Amino acid sequence: MNAQAGARHEIAAIPGDGIGREVVEPVIEILDQAASHWDFGLSWTLLPWSCEHYARHGSMMPADGLDQLRPADAIFLGAVGDPAVPDHVSLWGLLIPIRRAFDQYVNLRPVRLLAGVDGPLRQRADIDFVVVRENSEGEYSEAGGILWGGTEREAVLQESVFTRTGVERVLRYAFELAASRSGKLVSATKSNGIVHTMPFWDRICAETAAGFPAVHVDTQHVDALAAAFVQRPETLDVVVGSNLFGDILSDLGAAVVGGLGLAPSANLNPEGRYPSMFEPVHGSAPDIAGKGVANPLGQIWTGALMLDHLGHPEAAAAVVGAIEDVLRDTTIRTRDLGGSAGTADVARAVSEALRDRRPAALG
Ligand code: NAI
Ligand code: MG
Repeated sequence: MNAQAGARHEIAAIPGDGIGREVVEPVIEILDQAASHWDFGLSWTLLPWSCEHYARHGSMMPADGLDQLRPADAIFLGAVGDPAVPDHVSLWGLLIPIRRAFDQYVNLRPVRLLAGVDGPLRQRADIDFVVVRENSEGEYSEAGGILWGGTEREAVLQESVFTRTGVERVLRYAFELAASRSGKLVSATKSNGIVHTMPFWDRICAETAAGFPAVHVDTQHVDALAAAFVQRPETLDVVVGSNLFGDILSDLGAAVVGGLGLAPSANLNPEGRYPSMFEPVHGSAPDIAGKGVANPLGQIWTGALMLDHLGHPEAAAAVVGAIEDVLRDTTIRTRDLGGSAGTADVARAVSEALRDRRPAALG
């Protein structure tokens, strides 16, 4: 869906901690620049919710934090996490409540080998696919417990929860996405080893497929599929998996195209009933925080996903194009990509490349 020219979007920005803050700030400028080139507007509300907020107030966000976010058109997040605060506190105090309250049941991760990047694979291939991860149920559930704890009979149960509603909606999203791309979908399963939930997933996949005659769906065991990510990634277009399978496959996907500094992600509520959240895959990187050397490209690409979601596909494509323009020139790279440029140098280069891609510049 394309937004009207002149449209204004309310964005809640949560820079967070560590390099999250260092990369969000310059990226807001780049996205504002894109908005002015393509004639729309972004109104930013900066929210200082973070581990510092936790140290000061005892919580990652205010008690009415979710209510403050609800009216936003999108949430733009850097990263949270600080060595002084346990990771489960920062995760469960901010990210998980947002994903759950706003029913962001699709985690979307583009896996694309950009121009100028040498992935770790020996031969450069034309890699451009998307991983759709179920983001709200499945293997990551609190159902389970410990029996006879601390005795010889100690027993631990961890239940997976797959609901018809939850499986249907994420598969439907993946089929629609595949229909809008090449029509090729791979569904990750493990029905040979996991004998209840995975056959259920496969059955709903087959039912959904009946409504999408133009999509060719291939169900693959997740172990073999992991090998395919490395051995023939150029054959993939849309890959859909449960929460656990999607988590592992999407990190593997990020690794085969150049690593954490580049990888973007979106947590989507596809119906738009609630705001969706856009965040890079990387964390707050305490080991390099405060040095001005973080790679901002993952955050910039994440911003492009957000522009696309807001209905500005041309601006989004131009931002990704500007990233590729910069990567083709190997002199302006951060350390993680083998260079010595700083965050600000790379952000400035992307801004210049974007200016050359604005509609007026193309005539
Ligand atoms: P991390 O992604 O922060 O860092 C892993 C390694 O990759 C580090 O060596 C780091 O320097 C490097 N790296 C990451 N992003 C980079 C970038 N943009 N440019 C250059 N190098 C980059 O993961 P880690 O170390 O496991 O976690 C650190 C903290 O971040 C923890 O507190 C963790 O809980 C949190 N975290 C938060 C996430 C989020 O907010 N969504 C996601 C992942 C971790
Ligand atoms: Mg992961």
